[in-house]
Amino acid sequence: MQGTNTKTTETAKTQGVTEESSCDSRALRLKADIGDTGKGGTFMKLISCNANRPLSEAIADHLDCPLTDAEVKNFSDNEIFVRINENVRGEDVFVIQSTSRPANDNLMELLICIDALRRASAARITAVIPYFGYARQDRKTDGRTPISAKLVANLISASGTDRVLTMDLHAGQIQGFFDIPTDNMIALPVMVDDIQRRMGSEKLMVVSPDVGGVVRARSFAKRIGADLAIVDKRRPEAGKSEVMNIIGDVEGRKCILVDDICDSGGTLCNAAAALKEKGATAVSAYITHGVLSNNAVGRIEKSVMDELVICNTILPSEADQKSKKLR
Ligand code: R5P
Repeated sequence: MQGTNTKTTETAKTQGVTEESSCDSRALRLKADIGDTGKGGTFMKLISCNANRPLSEAIADHLDCPLTDAEVKNFSDNEIFVRINENVRGEDVFVIQSTSRPANDNLMELLICIDALRRASAARITAVIPYFGYARQDRKTDGRTPISAKLVANLISASGTDRVLTMDLHAGQIQGFFDIPTDNMIALPVMVDDIQRRMGSEKLMVVSPDVGGVVRARSFAKRIGADLAIVDKRRPEAGKSEVMNIIGDVEGRKCILVDDICDSGGTLCNAAAALKEKGATAVSAYITHGVLSNNAVGRIEKSVMDELVICNTILPSEADQKSKKLR
């Protein structure tokens, strides 16, 4: 168990850190990087809620730092209960939880877990939210509508979180909804690496599936030395999208659609159809968050899109994992 049987090494002493017997030198280096929390803690604890346990396990494995023993479960009336089964007093704690579907249950798990840690005197609590749900409600779209992304940010701060670590926020400015430090990591380097390994020498065209994604797509295109095209998308109503125009010449080109979210799949499927109509030879899509609601994968299977590559911020269902077009 971490936090027990602590010994101090010579190297560690000079860096002002201690070595837990269960962690190897990689973890020790990380510990030195993180340093003292300034509140009495010296290293990190990782806690997983239930939204995406395989991702938490992969993170723990990568860091050589075991997940802290914690119960995050439901009472029979569906209320959530959390118990941290290890001492976290003075510790630097990272709670891993995407607020993906079921968004409200997953959000409550995160809030209650943070409350439990705060009351157990953790020194610093970082909410690691690989997928930040509610992000698309980041402004009033009409009279008498909420800004739910701001409300969720307030709830996370109020629960006692010191810091937020998230990934590819739907809009970068959501960082400003938090009055605590917020880091917004990007998946772009991992995607670029994958594209370069698999399609290195091909003449590619990066495509933004809507005007809102142009900044992301442009930096993507720059990184892989490709041209940029833009889909002029219109949303007649929530959950439905139509392609009006394609800006850029995609004839004879292999296209890569890049976006933060694939929800119903409508945006990507429609864009892929329009690109092929304009002469694209192949269409792949690289997406950070596979929300994949409403039979999105069925829609993608039937579409002309050749492949959809998604990061693991959200755990896909077993059925979705079987899709040949999903990677
Ligand atoms: C919208 O601005 C987002 O970046 C995505 O394009 C959108 O959420 C995808 O939704 P759907 O898959 O339902 O078309």
